[in-house]
Amino acid sequence: MTNDTTSTPHDEDSTTDFGFNRVNRGDKAGMVRGVFDSVAGRYDLMNDLMSGGIHRIWKRFTIELSAVRPGQTVLDIAGGTGDLAAKFSRLVGPEGQVILADINAAMLAVGRDRLIDKGATGNVQVVQADAQQLPFEDNSIDCITIAFGLRNVTDKDHGDALYAARFTARR
Ligand SMILES: C[S@@+](CC[C@H](N)C(=O)[O-])C[C@H]1O[C@@H](n2cnc3c(N)ncnc32)[C@H](O)[C@@H]1O
Repeated sequence: MTNDTTSTPHDEDSTTDFGFNRVNRGDKAGMVRGVFDSVAGRYDLMNDLMSGGIHRIWKRFTIELSAVRPGQTVLDIAGGTGDLAAKFSRLVGPEGQVILADINAAMLAVGRDRLIDKGATGNVQVVQADAQQLPFEDNSIDCITIAFGLRNVTDKDHGDALYAARFTARR
């Protein structure tokens, strides 16, 4: 028996942000997937146009802040078309490893092609994964990044993505 008689599709707990709207939690992942499926081939151009190129500066700043060193393992969650992964690949070198993880196969396909074009292949692994259920061992990663991705994650309000990442990072 349940006494949850007040529950409606637009309850605080049953909805989440999607752009400027509130949508049912269960619908969000599919809606996010639809957006990135449809833009994957144009994502990089759109990113440059819509941000006025600022995303490149933020990414450079992120790389500098990370202080990643040769030989380390880096996980880029919601890594999309692989901007950060390509940069980290150069930093960690042949002894290190970069994991480009994203839930969307279309974005990863574009990312894989770009990494090949940039010659960043030997030390980069491409993994289709949900930020909320990371398939990596605890304490296995030196540095974890997520760029412009957290807002797309359904349960970010509850911190699930960050929680999952916390255990994956080396302590
Ligand atoms: C705005 S793009 C950012 C891509 C890249 N990090 C960048 O800065 O260019 C957001 C990315 O988050 C991914 N994404 C959305 N929900 C996700 C989830 N639950 N787990 C992993 N990736 C997710 C999308 O597929 C998309 O590639």
